[in-house]
Order: sequence, then structure tokens, then C-alpha cells
Amino acid sequence: MQRITSLEQYQTEYKHSVENPEAFWAEQAEQFTWHKKWDKVLEWNFDEPNVKWFVGGKLNITENCLDRHLADKGNQTAILWEPNNPQTPARKISYKELHQQVCEFASVLKNNGAKKGDRICIYMPMVPELAIAVLACARIGAIHSVVFGGFSFKSLSDRIYDAECNIVITADGAFRGAKDIPLKSVVDEALQTSPSVKKVIVLKHTNTNVVMQNERDVWWKEEVEKLNLTGIQNLSGFKAEIMDSEDPLFILYTSGSTGKPKGVVHTTAGYMTYVDYTFRNVFQYNAGDVYWCTADVGWITGHSYLVYGPLLAGATTLMFEGIPTYPDAGRFWNVIDKHQVNIFYTAPTAIRSLEALGLDFVKPYKLDSLRVLGSVGEPINVEAWNWYHVNIGKNKCPIVDTYWQTETGGIMISPLAGITPTKPGFATLPLPGVQPVLLNEAGKELIGNSVEGRLCFKFPWPGIIRTTYGDHKRCKETYFDVFKKYYFTGDGCRRDEDGYYRITGRVDDVIKVSGHLLGTAEIENAINEHPDIVESAVVGFPHDIKGWGIYAYVICDHQRKDVDALKAEIVQTVTKYMGPIAKPDKIQIVSGLPKTRSGKIMRRILRKIAEHDLDNLGDTSTLLDPAVVEEIKAGAVK
Ligand code: WT7
Repeated sequence: MQRITSLEQYQTEYKHSVENPEAFWAEQAEQFTWHKKWDKVLEWNFDEPNVKWFVGGKLNITENCLDRHLADKGNQTAILWEPNNPQTPARKISYKELHQQVCEFASVLKNNGAKKGDRICIYMPMVPELAIAVLACARIGAIHSVVFGGFSFKSLSDRIYDAECNIVITADGAFRGAKDIPLKSVVDEALQTSPSVKKVIVLKHTNTNVVMQNERDVWWKEEVEKLNLTGIQNLSGFKAEIMDSEDPLFILYTSGSTGKPKGVVHTTAGYMTYVDYTFRNVFQYNAGDVYWCTADVGWITGHSYLVYGPLLAGATTLMFEGIPTYPDAGRFWNVIDKHQVNIFYTAPTAIRSLEALGLDFVKPYKLDSLRVLGSVGEPINVEAWNWYHVNIGKNKCPIVDTYWQTETGGIMISPLAGITPTKPGFATLPLPGVQPVLLNEAGKELIGNSVEGRLCFKFPWPGIIRTTYGDHKRCKETYFDVFKKYYFTGDGCRRDEDGYYRITGRVDDVIKVSGHLLGTAEIENAINEHPDIVESAVVGFPHDIKGWGIYAYVICDHQRKDVDALKAEIVQTVTKYMGPIAKPDKIQIVSGLPKTRSGKIMRRILRKIAEHDLDNLGDTSTLLDPAVVEEIKAGAVK
């Protein structure tokens, strides 16, 4: 499959994609295996919203990820797995083997009652079986909903409940650095409030003791062995379910400004076309390259650029179970040398935390296999960009700073590796098919360069969100009503004198903590589970490593003298209900919160105090009780 090879070609292709988007995307979709080609490329309006790509087409995405490659790449490694423990052998799974295992597990799902259209929750460690589970769902036309293994039982049960999942696929536990995290027991706790779940399929991985519930719980391995025993022949011939272009492929929950996470729905053909095109062009993948995306499959980056994008392109995708600092802070670089990684895609938080630990962890490694570096998930600051460029890329690897969102399905604004001239801190230029606009607060389009505003897109691309599961109104209100006729990202952005885009950060009530999007309301709900807390307000503050940290103002219902113990309990409560990623970094006990007369918390003031910008609080005269601001200022946590 061809890809863009020069800046000039990018410009021509961009122009074509904007002038004739339908022809452009149809050309990209031609290469795939279709059971029936589409009748119409695009149908859309941003009012309802209603967006349909490749209308009337019939296909199965796994035939494009797997079957299509068997003839010429059957023996090539599809998934290269590096375990948490460097002493455990790595695993290589060829396209042929992956195909076989996906077919087997698809049969297991069927035998356990799964049907087309069912929602299946996947809560697993970063092992190849996670990718197999995802693909097996897609093979039978079930909608997967992967929940990040770092979320706790309440977050898990909310997501299972919202999607009414009937099956959960999990493992006994997960290894993360020196820790062994029990996953199955978290599932058990979550299922106490999830009546829809009829089956739990459990992979044995850590050998942690688990309680298996009769009838409900079955072991992955035993279910696969049963297939062989029942003599089902030619399992690799498991027929893929024929799906419509617009049948949902998956739901992935993302945080919003209310406490309830949104189930972002992506469909089949458009998502497939978009992640394949963007993967090949942004990373400039060459046949034979080893590509490594460090994201967990529980996030959109893992869906699009660890599983689907690379497999659609017939690539070798490395999957890493561990963490960057185990057994020491040189692990990433060790894995790059060990597996001769050519393309490496990670998050600014990881780069900053490894930078802080010093170059001694980088020095022992050659890193000479690297050709392209990537960054994703939050703005990368110039210092981290330079450190990455010099010390990891040895000044010779282009860095692709890829801007996108769970809702966009794939990369929107990014350099093409080695083609687009880069500028530290800039996501640079829109990909073909992407039409960004900057609006001022009144919704007026800002024309020309050297402008800053709210980032929107004015035309659909194939990977765009179709709906939020079970609540189309919420999708409309969040993304399409804020500025009529535009998709609104929730991000601020600057277009500089060269027309290059630089994302300045969120303009809504979500914060990016270590690249993870967290809703302040969701964290507040978790804090409020503590029996002594009556109310809380969470804001972000700039953090050297995490990008943003979590600052919580809490009101306690009676005077507690043991303030440190109370703070520790709050941290524990958040960990228990939401997960360790949402732990507050700073907690301030207050007697009241700055509220307007209508009862709305003035977060602007709380953000300023959290940033120690005490002299610029703005107008506080409209507050119900202006005195509370003085108290909060005086007690601000450094
Ligand atoms: C938000 C989306 C991108 C997929 C993983 C995160 C921020 C993402 C960049 C970047 C500046 C970025 C934005 C965006 N973001 N990439 N390269 N530069 N900011 O997906 O969890 O849905 O988060 O991440 O604020 O809206 P997500």
C-alpha cells in the first residue's frame, strides 16, 4: 500500500482530501477485503449528529487485520510480547498463529453464549490474550468494551452497567513492576452490582488464588481445550460475522465533565480506514519494522495504534506488560535494544519521569535501531521534546507529536515522520481529511495565522465518534452543540505564524493527569464516598512530571484533629473506588467552597489558588460568602 513520501505529496494529498473527501477516502478504502462494497461514501450532518461512512458496505475488520495477511505474511511476527519480568521469555505470535487463536477464542465466546451485537467487557493485563479477546469479539460481531486494568471496582461496574455487558473477560491477576494486582477479585466485587453479566472467562496468568463461581466463571484454557476435545476441526476456518460498515465495533469509556463516564462508540469501516491510513502515514512504517506503542490497550491509543492500526498494516507490534521503571528506569531502552525496535511511541509523562531519573539509565543502551519517535496524550513541553530528541533519538529520529482524542478514533494533527518539518511543542499540521478551525468564545471562526482559540473540526473524517452509548443526546450536547455545525474538541489551540498547530490544553472540567483524562466530578464522587466528607471540589494544577496534578478541596462534616490520617484515608478511598491514577496529590480541608448565589462552585478561583496565583483571583464580589476565599488562600497547600 502506498503512502505519502514527500512534503509536496502531503500538500497535494491534503488539497485533494479537502476538495473531494469522498473520492479521497474511497481510494483509501479500496485495498480492504469487502464482502460488499459501499453504495455511498458519506452521509452526514452535525446537527443530530449523524455521520455514516461507506454506507451499505459489508465486511469484518478481523479479516482485514488477519486473513488478508496470511498469504504473504503468515509467518511474520504479528505480536511481539515483552513480559513484565525481564527473566520471563518474550513471546512471538505470527499472523498465522494469531489468526488461529482469534478463531479459537471466537468459538469459545460463541460457546459461552455470545452473539453479534452483545457487549463484552474486557478487563485484562497487557498480555497477547488481551488483543486476542478484542479481535475475537470483533470476529463474532460483539462490541468490545475494554476497561483499563488500573481502574477499580466502582469504575469497572459503572462501565459494565452502562453498556449492559453479558460477558466479562478477565485474568486472575496482572503483574505491574514489583506488584501483583488481583483482577478477578475486582471483577467479583464489580459484579455484585452488575446483573447483566452471565459469564466470566478467566485467563490464568499470575497464578493468584481466585474464587470461581459455579456456572458463571470458566477458565480460558479449559474452554479452548474443550474445542479440541469436541473435535471441532479446522478452527482457523472460523467464519467471521459479516458486519455492516456502520455496525458498532467497540465502546470505550472516557471521562467527561459530569461524574458519569461517556461510552464513546466507534463503528467498523470508517474506523478501520482511518486508523490504517494514519498509522502508515504518520509513522512511515516499512515492511519488517518493529513498532512499539507503550500505551495500554485500555486506552484509545492501545486500540488504534497497538492493535488495529498495526495489524491492518501487517506490521509487527510490540506489546509490553510492564512499567518504564521496572526493574529499573532503563527498561524502555533495554527493550528497544533487545527487540531492535524501529518506531517507538510513548507519552510525555513517561519521557519526563525518565528524564528526571537521569541519563545513567540511558547510557548503557545503543538505541541505534530507532528510526522514528512518537508522543501522544498531552502537550509535550519543549524541554522533554529536546531530551527525547537528543538522548533517545540521538538527533536523527523525527518526533511525531500526535494530537487526537478517544472521540476522533485516530490521529488528527501530527507531523508525518521525516516529512513534515517539526517544531518542539507543536503537533504541526492536520492530516489529510482533517479540517481544523479555531473559534473564539462567541463561536466566530478565526481566520489566518497567529491566532488562538478553541479547536474544532468542520468536516467529518472516517474515525469520528458516532454516538455515546445509550445516550445520543449527550454526544450531541458535548461535541456538536457547543458551537453549531462544528465538532468541538474541548481543547485550546494556537495556530502560529507558519500555520502550525500547538495544543494549549483543556478548556473544560477534565484534567489530563499523566496523560489520562479524568473528570473532576468523577474524582469528587469518589472522594465523597469517604464517610466524613460532605463536599469536595477538584481542580488541576501544573505538575512537573504528570503535566497536571490533582488538587482537592474537601469539607469535613466534623472537626477531625488527625488531618494527616484523614488525608491518607481520602487517598485510599479514591484508590478503592476509582483507581490509583486518580489519587489527589494535594488535599486541603476547608470549611466552605466559593460558590455563586445560585450554588455553582467558582472553579476559576480554586484553580488560581491551586496554582498559587493568589493575586489574580478576579472578581469575587458575586460570591455567596467572599470570606471563604481568604480562608482558602491562607490554607493553600504548597
Ligand atoms: C486529549 C484526549 C490522543 C489519544 C490518547 C488520549 C490531549 C492528546 C495530545 C498532543 C497536546 C494532546 C488533548 C485531547 N492530547 N494528544 N499530542 N498534544 N494534547 O486520548 O484520553 O481521549 O485525551 O488529550 O487534551 O483532547 P484522550
